[in-house]
Amino acid sequence: MNSKILSVLQGSNIEPSPIWMMRQAGRHLPEYLEVRASAKDFIDFCFTPKKASEVTLQPVRRYDMDAAILFADILLIPIGLGRDVHFEKGIGPILTPITANDILKLTIDGAAERISSVFETVSLVRSELDKDKALIGFCGGPWTVATYMIEGRGSPTKEVAKRFAYNHPEAMSDLLEALVISSADYLIGQAKAGADVLKIFESWSEGLSPYQFETLVMEPTKALIKRVRAAGITVPIIGFPRGAGEKSIIYAQETGINAMAIGTESSLSWAREQLGADFPIQGNLDPLALRIGGSVLRDAVERVLQDANGPHIFNLGHGVSPDVKIENVHAVINHVRGHEANYV
Ligand code: CP3
Repeated sequence: MNSKILSVLQGSNIEPSPIWMMRQAGRHLPEYLEVRASAKDFIDFCFTPKKASEVTLQPVRRYDMDAAILFADILLIPIGLGRDVHFEKGIGPILTPITANDILKLTIDGAAERISSVFETVSLVRSELDKDKALIGFCGGPWTVATYMIEGRGSPTKEVAKRFAYNHPEAMSDLLEALVISSADYLIGQAKAGADVLKIFESWSEGLSPYQFETLVMEPTKALIKRVRAAGITVPIIGFPRGAGEKSIIYAQETGINAMAIGTESSLSWAREQLGADFPIQGNLDPLALRIGGSVLRDAVERVLQDANGPHIFNLGHGVSPDVKIENVHAVINHVRGHEANYV
């Protein structure tokens, strides 16, 4: 394998930076919408390896991205743990909020096995993907997944989940432990099926007190990575503590991740200064600039390239949204690779 992404993750400073985009497979692509329309619902879609592998490969085919990211969701793990999850159009994920008593009944044994059709997707993608493209597997960070399990849906403040952690520390610790064990098994299964890189999406790291960041994010993430490594998995792990601000530095230094994805709100040059010349970083084009296009987007891409200064994977600070124009994704890639870029 001769993947530029893997070289960067091993600490090489490659020019131009290899590129992929979070949510590169999704509703901005007509070929995605076509497959999506043939699926019963979003979860069934994720659990159908033929369809999920097809949409995983679509953005690599169309854009020549340097990596494919497994098409799945961070909320499949609660299904493996015996909770019900569904996705409602226009709202997003809906779960039955978990209680302290329910936490004792989580089906930790075999949780990853119950969602193992995802491993089939991984091996199907790996068998069809060019050798020089990396396949990225992922899971949600234990805290982020716990917020959905406790609150039952996305919430702006996560206050219900934060209160639950303060008021029921034992139940919270049991829930995080269940997520650490099942997510580790899930990542191990993905790596064994052919994922070359793993990524942990801790999307709701913002706004936590130092105490809660330590107990809800740092400790579970360390335990998760330790379990994955203890199973003999050596592939690089990218961490994405979105919105953690200054706390993302100890996250990068102490959890055991090999590279850090930087969200929209932080500066790449600041991250570089804090983490040193050799630490691989990923990010962090403003997704809003990608939606706006034109010279706004050109300038934003230029700033990212100027700020990276070392091992870097070009990406967004968050995901591609449905209103993004295909021409602008092409233009960003061409720009990053030093070719003529036609922004619209
Ligand atoms: O990045 C990729 O292309 C890989 C696949 C992927 C999806 N979700 C597919 C998806 C990944 C890595 C995720 C992670 C995920 N899922 C996160 C963490 C990353 C982040 O965005 O911060 C979170 C918080 C979720 C939970 C989730 N899944 C929400 C809140 C939603 C609804 C929002 C929306 O855009 O509708 C989803 C659904 C979802 N997951 C879609 C996709 C492509 C849209 C579903 C559709 O096609 O209708």
